[in-house]
Amino acid sequence: MGKFSIAIDGPAGAGKSTVARALAKRLGYIYVDTGAMYRAMALHFIRNGIAEDDFAAMETACDTAEVTIIHTDGEQAVLLNGENVNGFIRTEQVSHMTSVSSVNQKVRLKMVELQRGLAVKENVVMDGRDIGSYVLPDADRKIFLTASVEVRAKRRYDEQKAKGTECSLAEIEESIRERDYRDSHREFAPLVQAEDAVYVDTSGLTIEEVTEELYRLCRGGRG
Ligand code: DC
Repeated sequence: MGKFSIAIDGPAGAGKSTVARALAKRLGYIYVDTGAMYRAMALHFIRNGIAEDDFAAMETACDTAEVTIIHTDGEQAVLLNGENVNGFIRTEQVSHMTSVSSVNQKVRLKMVELQRGLAVKENVVMDGRDIGSYVLPDADRKIFLTASVEVRAKRRYDEQKAKGTECSLAEIEESIRERDYRDSHREFAPLVQAEDAVYVDTSGLTIEEVTEELYRLCRGGRG
């Protein structure tokens, strides 16, 4: 029998990764954070000194980036040419380059191939922007997770503050709006709710409440 797959899509800051990780743990599935894969690729472009508008150079550099995903005790590590880059992919610089470079079709097709390969081998909870609509159109469960821009910005702001990073709520909100726009207006595989996805607005909910709701939607296996 084929593997079971759960697709969770939505905009930045909706809580996808926290909830997807918790859900995967509860179900005993592998969690696949596809954003981290695009981030590793963007890090490769930055390290090679590629400008954010130089798509020709990105396409060439794609061929020299081997992005691999490994799992240890259910936790994902992203390897870039064999190096674990988990510690380098969450900066604002990488976030920006990722948002810009993930528009490119060659970059996307390379990541999509890898994502589909993982879903063939393992039961997965995969989160991203185009998982239910493009990467895994036959996923067993599809969820579109979102929240208002204000709530998402406030969450990011609180996260940064907790880490002791100085930041401005207005700037974070502006950067989220920009990313939303780019993610949902790109030509190839944009952020979109799949027709058969369940819409969940997490604005007034805690992480625990969202995880519980998704578990309720996903348990009970195929069908
Ligand atoms: O989920 P995240 O913040 O780590 O995603 C980083 C960027 O990657 C974001 O700008 C959208 C892009 N992305 C994408 O285009 N497709 C995916 N499946 C996952 C992420």
